[in-house]
Amino acid sequence: MKYRTFGKLGIQGSAFGLGCMRFNGAASGDSVIDEQKAVSLIRRAIDGGVTYLDTAYVYLDRTSEIVLGKALQDGYRDKVTIATKMPAEHVHNRAEMEDLLAEELKKLQTDHIDFYLMHGINREKWEYFKSIGAPEFFEEMKKAGKIRYKCFSFHGPYEDFEYIIQDNDWDMVQIQYNFMDVNSQAGTKGLKLAGSLGIPVVIMEGLLGGRLAKAPENVQALYDAFPVKRSPVEWAFRWLCNHPEIATVLSGCNEEGQIDDNLRIFDTVEPGIMSEEELKLMDDVRQAYLSRTKIGCTGCRYCMPCPNGVNIPGIFSAWNDVALYNAEPSEHYGLREIRSNDQGADHCVECGACESACPQNLPIIEKLKEAWKELGG
Ligand SMILES: NC(=O)c1ccc[n+]([C@@H]2O[C@H](COP(=O)([O-])OP(=O)(O)OC[C@H]3O[C@@H](n4cnc5c(N)ncnc54)[C@H](OP(=O)(O)O)[C@@H]3O)[C@@H](O)[C@H]2O)c1
Ligand code: SF4
Ligand code: SF4
Repeated sequence: MKYRTFGKLGIQGSAFGLGCMRFNGAASGDSVIDEQKAVSLIRRAIDGGVTYLDTAYVYLDRTSEIVLGKALQDGYRDKVTIATKMPAEHVHNRAEMEDLLAEELKKLQTDHIDFYLMHGINREKWEYFKSIGAPEFFEEMKKAGKIRYKCFSFHGPYEDFEYIIQDNDWDMVQIQYNFMDVNSQAGTKGLKLAGSLGIPVVIMEGLLGGRLAKAPENVQALYDAFPVKRSPVEWAFRWLCNHPEIATVLSGCNEEGQIDDNLRIFDTVEPGIMSEEELKLMDDVRQAYLSRTKIGCTGCRYCMPCPNGVNIPGIFSAWNDVALYNAEPSEHYGLREIRSNDQGADHCVECGACESACPQNLPIIEKLKEAWKELGG
């Protein structure tokens, strides 16, 4: 296992951090956990050198912290740092923040949390956290020794990230980043900004939740043609670890084989390890994925709101995702949300309001029909 320095904190952590959100392959919040298997996977990772464990209050129907707490008995707690999170939806005032932190400490069977994160914030959630006094609460808990570092995890556009990271004194940030997300979410610009401020960056969704682990044919052909043979997973992690700003790359593993594979990969990766040829390969791989794009919707939302409730950018985004990564429509989280919120293309009455507003001049009505058919209607 390679260990890396956490920016201005100066501490060392394992390059591979175990994400505790996916122990049986299910997305957060809708699964029943196999406790014995999860404990054994966590300990296997720690025995292999992992020192960074990431969980959250809401993961796996709120059972992830409990299982992690059990896995960290028998001396394992002293070998690792724990990251867990405060969800905005569950706290409305100081008393509720205190209660939530106390509950998390109890579930984790520990007297302190190392990295405490405001969970999945964008600018709106950050303003909310400020309005209830969360930054001050985190500082007080640091002084009280209940948490060591004040951090946030981020989902949103770069502009929000740039604002949030400079609006407070943060110890660490966690962002979604991988070779496909260079220009989305915080993106490469966000990573570099954090690095310039000395703030360590922890990466989530390095494999896009597993989608980058299975290359479609045109991408696999590029990997196969390269003189050095590596799996898509190894290429993705190697590309990430090439960035010196990154402290730890999280990955949620479901099987012993995945843990072992990742332990092997993270034994070899260091900043600056990628050659010119390898970086060129990853640029070509990104283009090969993008060539599978179904529609050039930029997600600007000028077409919204649709008077009939159709989630136009959401449907186009799901259509592109499914095509890019050869994914199953039924497993696409955003699409499932669209269906359960009744925002499908079947509600389109072809009024044309969206088409006249679209700066890309997309034939939205026709493309919505095509997308909805391919996504299963
Ligand atoms: N704060 C937030 O808002 C937030 C959001 C998302 C995630 N997270 C955290 O970040 C962690 C990492 O994100 P993630 O779980 O999405 O990571 P990821 O690495 O992008 O995806 C994990 C998935 O990749 C596949 N995988 C991992 N190692 C593999 C290997 N060696 N070979 C083949 N497949 C492999 C598995 O997919 P299969 O299940 O298909 O086998 C696994 O479930 C999460 O566990 C969670 O702790 C936080
Ligand atoms: S054409 Fe369809 S999708 Fe577009 S605004 Fe009208 S109802 Fe909504
Ligand atoms: S206006 Fe056009 S480009 Fe913008 S979100 Fe709507 S369909 Fe996509």
